[in-house]
Amino acid sequence: MLESQFEIVDLKSGIKSLRLIENNETFHPGIGPIAEANILHVAQHRFAERVVPEQTFVLWDVGLGAAANVVAAIDALKDLSSPIEIHSFDRSLGALRFALEHLDALDYLAPYHEAATRLMTEHVLQLTPHIRWFLHVGDFRDEMLNPNIPTPDSIFYDPYSPRGNVDMWNLDHFRNLRTRVGDTKTLILTNYTRATYVRVTWLLAGFFVGVGTSIGEKEETSVASNSLDALKAPLQDKFLQRVRVSHSSAPLRGPAYSTGPIDTVDCEAVMNHPQFQTH
Ligand SMILES: C[S@@+](CC[C@H](N)C(=O)[O-])C[C@H]1O[C@@H](n2cnc3c(N)ncnc32)[C@H](O)[C@@H]1O
Repeated sequence: MLESQFEIVDLKSGIKSLRLIENNETFHPGIGPIAEANILHVAQHRFAERVVPEQTFVLWDVGLGAAANVVAAIDALKDLSSPIEIHSFDRSLGALRFALEHLDALDYLAPYHEAATRLMTEHVLQLTPHIRWFLHVGDFRDEMLNPNIPTPDSIFYDPYSPRGNVDMWNLDHFRNLRTRVGDTKTLILTNYTRATYVRVTWLLAGFFVGVGTSIGEKEETSVASNSLDALKAPLQDKFLQRVRVSHSSAPLRGPAYSTGPIDTVDCEAVMNHPQFQTH
């Protein structure tokens, strides 16, 4: 991807971010890159509670982009004295290169300028005595299948929105991801969406799904997990009513972005999901 495909934008908050010109998608559009990364991703992963000594904690940073999410994670993790592996995935290093050339605007990256530059050529870096940072360049859907990459405890899921990137949001993909993460570890996955059809897609893929934190002007976001117990606010029966009446509750299928009301087969599968059978 060419660097000219991005531009710096001023957010309402006065903070600067970057935008992919082609699809007009701004990275961290609300309150700015680091504030959003901290609230949406870092805080909801409860690192202080979940990173334990003697066990390697694995974070997948899906959509490295301009590295705001991963920088926020590193800042939160660097003082913990447990082994940590961060695996960043991106099919293109265009956003990172662009950001490294615009450190005056994207100043969160300045302290990591050297590390990010080295990571782009070396693909693995011992960042601190405890943190190893890996870079996987390619389509996440293929890269995640590499058995040498350890199963994640946490996923920051940030590969653009479903409308412009359906392949990273459809049911086939999330079923593959659900299989890949398995059940040996408790996984938490965070994303900005609150769309009913995304939550339905995650449920049908076999995840448990919860309401995520509010952020800026957005009342809620979404969290997925392989464990109901890991969710602070699992979706409740109220969500099932929404699924029935919503005009966009059908799961995403195939390569084309298309939403609509859910059909009876999918609707029944959602109603029968173990998440809603607890009472
Ligand atoms: C919104 S940006 C991510 C922003 C980033 N997390 C940050 O903190 O700056 C989305 C990124 O996802 C990447 N991406 C989209 N689809 C992908 C795929 N199938 N595989 C790997 N990376 C993908 C894009 O190349 C882009 O860099």
